[in-house]
Amino acid sequence: MSVASERVRLLLATRNQHKVEELGRILTAEGLDVELVDASEFPAVPTVAETGTTFADNALLKARAFAEATGLPSVADDSGLCVDALNGMPGVLSARWSGRHGNDEANLELVLDQLADVPDDRRTASFACAAAFVRPDGVERVVEGRLRGRIVRVPRGDGGFGYDPIFQSDGDTRTTAEMGPEEKDAISHRGKAFRALAPVLRELL
Ligand code: IMP
Repeated sequence: MSVASERVRLLLATRNQHKVEELGRILTAEGLDVELVDASEFPAVPTVAETGTTFADNALLKARAFAEATGLPSVADDSGLCVDALNGMPGVLSARWSGRHGNDEANLELVLDQLADVPDDRRTASFACAAAFVRPDGVERVVEGRLRGRIVRVPRGDGGFGYDPIFQSDGDTRTTAEMGPEEKDAISHRGKAFRALAPVLRELL
């Protein structure tokens, strides 16, 4: 029997290849030897409706669905932008804030319009991410990561996705769309949540 076949298999409940690669890089850097499989290997598992009121709820809904359907320990994440002047919204509605799922430009234009009269000192915001781990025997854990910053008035930068062109992290003069991918991973909400997952996986896998 080969050594590779003895590695623990961990499912990442996403079809987003960027997230799979990012979690893979972080787990390797943390010294965890797992075989990461992604949701595209299980096309029969239906898309889970993100009906939760928090990022943690949604991440748990997705991780539970995949752990139950596949019998594999599963990780799922959920993330979004929380704007203080909008009482934490778009929050879990970030991907569909303008009404249509995944229309990044319309979503960020709507946030800019909503903040048009908000003065600079009240344009604080954060990106937040919850990462949930669910074992098929029902053991569950959720960890979170946050990146604090502010909403600029005019979009800048071609990198990233979603709200990156209007988000400037604290202590930086660039938007997160003006950062390189590795630079953003190092400070991002998702990077922080995935790194916080490493000790959980070490204990529970
Ligand atoms: P999901 O966690 O992939 O479902 O992301 C939800 C939504 O939050 C995305 O569609 C984006 O609008 C927003 N979002 C999450 N993370 C980021 C980020 O790192 N940059 C910009 N937007 C983000």
